[in-house]
Amino acid sequence: MKDLLKLKSSLTEEIENILNAQVKVEAHSSALYLAMSSWCDDQGLDHSASFFAKQADEERAHMLKLFNYINNRGGRAVSPEITNIPTDFESFRGVFEQTLEQEMFVTEQFNNIADRCMKAKDYVTFNFVQWFLEEQVEEEYVARRILELFDVIGEEGTGRWEIDRHLVKVTFDGE
Ligand code: FEO
Repeated sequence: MKDLLKLKSSLTEEIENILNAQVKVEAHSSALYLAMSSWCDDQGLDHSASFFAKQADEERAHMLKLFNYINNRGGRAVSPEITNIPTDFESFRGVFEQTLEQEMFVTEQFNNIADRCMKAKDYVTFNFVQWFLEEQVEEEYVARRILELFDVIGEEGTGRWEIDRHLVKVTFDGE
């Protein structure tokens, strides 16, 4: 019976747990960005609202990618409980500062996961998380470039409107 249980999953309990913890982080990111989208919409920052709505969708896709991987390898993915999502934010710039902080935190999490996979000799999962690590390069880059707009354009006068209009043009070509 014990052997049968072991055969059921290709993931160790440790790796399954850290992947489930990351499912929760991605779900938290998704909910946070949706909250930011609503706040931006309320502030009349329509492009930023769309930007964050799209980010929220992407984070949910990340969550599902991890979720499906856990189940496909014989583990049990856990639908996470998400709490402490703010409804209010201090400032336009602050929202993007928090975005960059969140993305840097996510990068650190995936670095830790890769490290644990390496130590556990789980090279299949190690390989799986490389996609996320590459994705993080883009997400941090975009957040940093958007923050630069606040310095270059400034928020005075029509500045906020200009920043909102320009930030959707920030793209990452990976070169
Ligand atoms: Fe899924 Fe932006 O990390």
